[in-house]
Amino acid sequence: MSNTSALMNTQPDVTAFFDPATNTISYVVKDPESSACAVIDSVMDIDYAAGQITYDHADAIIAFIKVHELTLEWLIETHVHADHLSAAPYIQQQLGGKIGIGEKITFVQETFGKVFNEGTEFQRDGSQFDALFSDGEIYQIGGMTARVMATPGHTPACMVHVIGNAAFIGDTLFMPDGGSARADFPGGDAGELYDSIQKILALPDDMRLFMCHDYGPNGREIQWETTVAEEKAHNIHVGGGKNKADFVKFRTERDAQLDMPKLIIPSLQVNMRAGAIPVDAEGRPSLKVPLNALK
Ligand SMILES: [Fe+2]
Repeated sequence: MSNTSALMNTQPDVTAFFDPATNTISYVVKDPESSACAVIDSVMDIDYAAGQITYDHADAIIAFIKVHELTLEWLIETHVHADHLSAAPYIQQQLGGKIGIGEKITFVQETFGKVFNEGTEFQRDGSQFDALFSDGEIYQIGGMTARVMATPGHTPACMVHVIGNAAFIGDTLFMPDGGSARADFPGGDAGELYDSIQKILALPDDMRLFMCHDYGPNGREIQWETTVAEEKAHNIHVGGGKNKADFVKFRTERDAQLDMPKLIIPSLQVNMRAGAIPVDAEGRPSLKVPLNALK
């Protein structure tokens, strides 16, 4: 526990950027003792119907980092998102920093390399990323120590990043009234998700938890921050000590009724390349739409 107590003494400055188009929350996480920061789960804007990419959301993050004269050390992806496109390379080009994701990205690349019928030019070794994190790995953001926790279930490469007294939990839990993430994508597993959620709930009660998404259930305002204690007590899918068998049954039945995310086809092609946009045979930016391949 002494490691965890030491982490709780560091209190990063966390600034959230909500993207209303995809209900994603991106974060700038700053070391209180230096100018160092990390960006977690950035978003590139897409008008999918028009095939148009823009960068308003990423530009707001870049402007914030510049105005506050911060040094961007890391661009973290909590996982390969299926509902929005990462802007990590766009931000990296302007501000530097290393793009990192969980080492199980190779499984995701293998799976979706087949779905999208990618050729041999698409590497399945994670080499598009600057860093591949393993479970329990430690890295620095300025003077802050960040610890990575593998939390598979929603996808194989999901990672929670614990930075001081703040944990960025990706798609595992949502706010207590939002429940948990779906576990039915290729490589997902409801039982694994339950076990991963237990790892989050084993963090200190007053650990701050930051969501990757919020949909404002039942008309409430968008929120993105809660605590371990709140999730343990009130999460509608796992709170109050719900057991694994009940969770897996519920999650599996629920997932069978969910539609695919609107942006899953563009998101996976871009995000499995660390946010790079694929190109066609002539080098033009281009996406594929494989038919009857996702479900
Ligand atoms: Fe996700």
